[in-house]
Amino acid sequence: MYHDFNYQATLTSSLRAQWQLDDVLRDDQELDFSRNFMPESLARTAVLDGLNPFEQRVLNQISAHQYLAIFGIVEEFILPFLLDHARPALREDDWRVRALLNFATEEAKHIHLFKRFHRTFVRGFPVECQVIGPSEDIGAEILHHDPLAVGLVILMIEWMTQQHYLGSIRDDGELEPLFKSLLRHHWMEEAQHAKLDTLIVDALAEGRTEAQIDKAIDEFFEIGGFLDHGLQAQAGFNLAALEKAIGRKVDDPETLLAQQHQAARWTYIGSGMVHARFQATLETLSPRAAQRIAEAAPLFG
Ligand SMILES: [Fe+2]
Ligand SMILES: [Fe+2]
Repeated sequence: MYHDFNYQATLTSSLRAQWQLDDVLRDDQELDFSRNFMPESLARTAVLDGLNPFEQRVLNQISAHQYLAIFGIVEEFILPFLLDHARPALREDDWRVRALLNFATEEAKHIHLFKRFHRTFVRGFPVECQVIGPSEDIGAEILHHDPLAVGLVILMIEWMTQQHYLGSIRDDGELEPLFKSLLRHHWMEEAQHAKLDTLIVDALAEGRTEAQIDKAIDEFFEIGGFLDHGLQAQAGFNLAALEKAIGRKVDDPETLLAQQHQAARWTYIGSGMVHARFQATLETLSPRAAQRIAEAAPLFG
């Protein structure tokens, strides 16, 4: 076995790590807009030399708003996915049922937290930041795919959050403290989600032929392409918000759009695709699946 995850241990760890909304962001707290919110490795705003440092920071904050808004959209489709996966076997393994329902409860709490963050952000930021959607339509489009493909997309996202926090947020002392704390709390609970989703993918892949797995990987790429299209549209919304916030048009919008779209590709797709744990799951499904995804990864770098 390439991992030692199980429902009982995961549930126990989850219950120990759990927090409440007010532990993370109370309704009366305000964000410090004199700071960056996102690590540079994800926001990639410092390299935009057509923007002055203030303007780069504004774009960094727009990128942070996008970060949680996109996570909110993703977690909204994770919720029904989990309930659908749990429902056919509610009487078999008590640890499994409780672990999956707790996973769903935590995602519902994250959605709730991200909405609270959005309200706090809006109070302190000068302009509206538009987000792609509606989330119901995005979720419906994704969920009509093979559950194994959806499970893999979710697994990629769960491991990605681990990589973002440990790789670039935890040790960055410059970040806005409330936003950083929010990401830390999210990371803590997501660590168990990644293990549970590994178990879900194992279950969904069981007994499949190589051709069936290959088909699921085709659908994984379809979902990836659909998400990528959304990220491109989101880059346009971010540029519009930036120009409104700084009160001028940027000099080379095409270059900025392409560069910020690529930053989002890495943030939401590439950094998950190359995660060693995600690759390990793919390898067990089929070496060909792992190879196909490894070959596509540089596009999202
Ligand atoms: Fe979450
Ligand atoms: Fe999660």
